[in-house]
Amino acid sequence: MHSNTHHTERAHPEKPLLQMKNIHKSFSGVKVLDGVCFDLKKGEIHVLAGENGAGKTTLVKILSGAHTDHSGDVYLDGALVRFVSPSHAAKYGISAIYQERSLVNSMSVRDNIFLGKEKTDLLGRMNFKQENDLARHVLQQLGLDIDISRPLSSYPLSVKQMIEIAKALVNESKIIIMDEPTSALNTMETSHLFEIINELKKNGHGIVFISHRLEEIYNIADRITVLRDGKYIGTSVPDRLSSKNLVKWMVGRELKEQFPSRTPFSKKKSSVILSVRDLSLNNKSISFDLYSGEILGIAGLQGSGKSLILHSLFGTFGKPDLGHMSLDHREHMVKSPAKSIQNGIALLTNDRKNNGLVFDMSVKENITLASLSKFLKWGWIQKKKEDFVVSRMFESFHIKAKSMEQTVSTLSGGNQQKVLLAKWLMTNPKVLFLDEPTIGIDVAAKHEIYKLMNQWRDQGLGQILITSELPELLALSDRILVLHRGRLSALYEQHEATQEKILRSAMGQCN
Ligand SMILES: Nc1ncnc2c1ncn2[C@@H]1O[C@H](COP(=O)(O)OP(=O)(O)O)[C@@H](O)[C@H]1O
Ligand SMILES: [Mg+2]
Repeated sequence: MHSNTHHTERAHPEKPLLQMKNIHKSFSGVKVLDGVCFDLKKGEIHVLAGENGAGKTTLVKILSGAHTDHSGDVYLDGALVRFVSPSHAAKYGISAIYQERSLVNSMSVRDNIFLGKEKTDLLGRMNFKQENDLARHVLQQLGLDIDISRPLSSYPLSVKQMIEIAKALVNESKIIIMDEPTSALNTMETSHLFEIINELKKNGHGIVFISHRLEEIYNIADRITVLRDGKYIGTSVPDRLSSKNLVKWMVGRELKEQFPSRTPFSKKKSSVILSVRDLSLNNKSISFDLYSGEILGIAGLQGSGKSLILHSLFGTFGKPDLGHMSLDHREHMVKSPAKSIQNGIALLTNDRKNNGLVFDMSVKENITLASLSKFLKWGWIQKKKEDFVVSRMFESFHIKAKSMEQTVSTLSGGNQQKVLLAKWLMTNPKVLFLDEPTIGIDVAAKHEIYKLMNQWRDQGLGQILITSELPELLALSDRILVLHRGRLSALYEQHEATQEKILRSAMGQCN
């Protein structure tokens, strides 16, 4: 076993529900799991933790029958099994809920729940009555009051996730795998999910819960197993593993400080790069300035209009109703995203999948996607110049990929986010809008993105940052604008801002 391996759990007499022993797996010759062990007991929530790319998803995909070309053994209730497909694993009572959902939007909630295992009578006819009753029963168990005949598309993501769990319950799964289920949920939805997970646990299900968020891990875990670079690092009960050590297990070193240090910002030494006057948003208007070399944070509750501001300025909705803007001392007309990019505005959104990355193209192609004109000469792409510039980006962003030719879909979330940032930086922006730039990525990748943001700040780029993580907002922003229902309710300098003040302003109270 690995010399770095830690064991701090007590011996447990009963036979585990699941044991995975010495699992190895490679993708086209590259080893991504290297002798990993994992076990799960009945009625246990076992958190699988590790940075992006550690191998967590790959491990559970072996367990759920999605990957079959591994070596090593899997035991269920002490008996050796070898799954050949996800439906095979499902027959043994294993269900997995992945980040990419397996549901079909155009189908009804009921049909989604029974997808692939429709209830039929002896003649093979669908038994809708039985399906309806079972679906209602299961959804009730989950505290979900929805119309099961409506298409799935009419429900928000948090509900879709519950429907995936309903699917697992209908399947009478003993083991339920959840791969980063909270990455797109807000605080309330997350706590609802946690209630349900605890309920499943009480009913004797074994839960494999994947996460890299520390608060979450300590909130829910009975045991924690950490993977790093495809290797098994250790297993512990949370009480015996401090968060400091957990980070050390995950990252392989101590992170001295969460946020990199930097020089204070001085308005006096800078000038306004973007000036916004009377921008109209939902019948309200807003004015503010962004300085070059400044990171301006925008805070506000869900629905306060944070993202709306950035999208309006970027031209996502075309020309705004009212207001004017100047960019780099020139009158700037908002027209369309393409025009904005040309004029030096870049917008990074929190939706990598639908906004920004072309998943089946290479890292290189994605990076140059928005700035191809830079490499054109007489209508030809200058390959050498392109390679040179991209490889410099590739290195300075520390993108973890075999080469610039690797397909973006095979990178981890943190590295995809870096590719997206590189793509926007390639357009040479004067101002950069960042909407939740670190959502869903691990501690170390976050740290690197913070460092890059500080670097660009020192080079004079103006940045507007939206993040729902207040510590991040406080540490990175030079000034913080707070919105309440589409109105500016406060503006703080970094040194005077606190979490409490921001929350109060966001709720519309005076400080
Ligand atoms: N289909 C694939 N083809 C090639 N490499 C892959 C594929 N899926 C995952 N990988 C690689 O395997 C490693 C582990 O990935 P993954 O299991 O998704 O990690 P995690 O879930 O811990 O973030 C990463 O380096 C990733 O790039
Ligand atoms: Mg994963």
